[in-house]
Amino acid sequence: MVEAVTSSSDETEAIAARLATRLAPGDVVYVSGELGAGKTTFVRGACRALGVGGPVTSPTYTIGHRYDGVSHLDLFRFERLTDADWGALEPYFEDAIVFVEWPERAGGRLPPPRVEVKLGHVDEHRRSVELASAEPDLLAGLL
Ligand SMILES: Nc1ncnc2c1ncn2[C@@H]1O[C@H](COP(=O)(O)OP(=O)(O)OP(=O)(O)O)[C@@H](O)[C@H]1O
Ligand SMILES: [Mg+2]
Repeated sequence: MVEAVTSSSDETEAIAARLATRLAPGDVVYVSGELGAGKTTFVRGACRALGVGGPVTSPTYTIGHRYDGVSHLDLFRFERLTDADWGALEPYFEDAIVFVEWPERAGGRLPPPRVEVKLGHVDEHRRSVELASAEPDLLAGLL
């Protein structure tokens, strides 16, 4: 596990961008943290580094956004994912690096993560950023 405290959304995006360049299609990244902790900000930084050009916003009223080679899911509105929900999610996992906000709402139906990100409030502009992976090399020197 590696951790840092960022002082701006730019810093949080920069960490995400560095992580993103180490990932490959098929990788799933869980992004957890309370409301406003910076999950979407983190995913935005990763998407930018992966070549996504337009706005990267929270898919609050849809299940997710699909970009070229990158998917951004937000499971907030699910209390618990059903089989039918999962059917709608599956295409997001094809040929993409997948970032998932509120992964705990999937009730264990998501593929296992390559990286787990946990964000938390320190104060108005500071956030704790924790990255965990079963592969220590993946995170070495990242922060
Ligand atoms: N160090 C920081 N890192 C990330 N975001 C920060 C930081 N400091 C301030 N912010 C602000 O905190 C807010 C984080 O919002 P964001 O939408 O990324 O959170 P979220 O965790 O996705 O929330 P939600 O649970 O509603 O989806 C943004 O307004 C961002 O500008
Ligand atoms: Mg969000």
